[in-house]
Amino acid sequence: MKRICIVSSSQGGELSPKKGSPARINVSSLFRPSRNRIPMRSRNLTTGIGVLQSTSQAATPSDSGVRANSTSMVDQSYVKERVRNFWQNSPCDSWFTNETRGTGAFYRSLDEHRYRVHPRLLGAIGFEKTRGLRVLEIGCGCGSEAERFARAGASYTAVDLTNAAVSITQRRFQLEALKGNFTQGDAENLPFADGSFDLVYSHGVLHHTPDTPRTIREVHRVLAPGGRAVIMLYYRNSFKYQVNLRVVRRLRAHLLKTELGIKLARKIWREPEEELRRHAELIRQDPDAYLDMQNMLNRNTDGPDNPLSQVFSRESASTLFRKFEDVRTEVMFWNPNWLPGIGTLIPRPIEDWLASHWGWHLWIYAEKTRLAFMTARIRRPVWSIVPPQVHPEPLAGVIGGD
Ligand SMILES: C[S@@+](CC[C@H](N)C(=O)[O-])C[C@H]1O[C@@H](n2cnc3c(N)ncnc32)[C@H](O)[C@@H]1O
Repeated sequence: MKRICIVSSSQGGELSPKKGSPARINVSSLFRPSRNRIPMRSRNLTTGIGVLQSTSQAATPSDSGVRANSTSMVDQSYVKERVRNFWQNSPCDSWFTNETRGTGAFYRSLDEHRYRVHPRLLGAIGFEKTRGLRVLEIGCGCGSEAERFARAGASYTAVDLTNAAVSITQRRFQLEALKGNFTQGDAENLPFADGSFDLVYSHGVLHHTPDTPRTIREVHRVLAPGGRAVIMLYYRNSFKYQVNLRVVRRLRAHLLKTELGIKLARKIWREPEEELRRHAELIRQDPDAYLDMQNMLNRNTDGPDNPLSQVFSRESASTLFRKFEDVRTEVMFWNPNWLPGIGTLIPRPIEDWLASHWGWHLWIYAEKTRLAFMTARIRRPVWSIVPPQVHPEPLAGVIGGD
């Protein structure tokens, strides 16, 4: 494994839903101007792991902070491999555009969509304070925040489990002539020395890996004393989890058992038909397994073939971050589609209130104590660190565009 420092290069790399061609999913209807409309995702539903998901398999229990040790190492690496395959085949957010991957238009349309749907996201990070800081982003996805960190003058490093995300983010930097470091690696075993970063940022990532507590220990280890973590995890006490997944989506599963029901669901939730049909297929294969809460969570958060999502309460987050000091949490993000028919009619102030109380995203801000240097080396000797993996040469032909 090796790591490279990139100014620009012609890195590429990801699989696309249709073999040999970049993803060109027709989602033009997703770009309507209404501020409230949340686009439905059209996903790669033939990831090759669908077969595994058709049987009854709660990958891990669905709650929260200090779990994961109950799952064997073998199970965890099996789940991790499925997680890697899933995100390799469906790089985060890439399904929101039909622009050719790796082009300027691709990145622009992704960002336009992202910050319209998540208007508070940029403000939640505080890029303006990152000039000169060593920033690590875990799970860079398509690199939207990566670009903003680099533009703000941070010394930016990306790590992601998949070659696809690293390649796509690297290509973004190449197009914009920005500097960054790009590494393919695992959040559960970060390929960096102790105390290497001033800020670790991770948005919507660490709940997708089997051993989340371990990732938080890794975040703590790679932070310098006084360094800060900004981490977003899915929120357990959210409307989405407690009402939408527990009740509404379970009822919807019965609707999806008939052709008429699928058509009706399409009208109500405005989801892509192929996605609804994939849900219907999974329900047909094993109705009980589909209704299992862990499977509900997996399949109804990042697409029907998502192998693993977890949710965290504020309490479990504070357990996870107990080695940190000054731990603060905030809840954000409301999706009008959770209330079909009336969601878009809700006035902005009420929507903001709902987002801050029952939103889906739990943001955790935490600081590594300044005295941490006294124990850091004792806990993890420098020779035990997995060397960073250099992001490989471009995967020819997998990113379209120039
Ligand atoms: C939902 S996407 C989020 C991407 C990006 N942060 C965003 O907000 O758009 C999840 C990302 O986490 C990455 N990921 C999942 N498990 C990981 C792990 N154990 N280590 C590093 N990255 C991981 C996936 O490859 C994927 O790119």
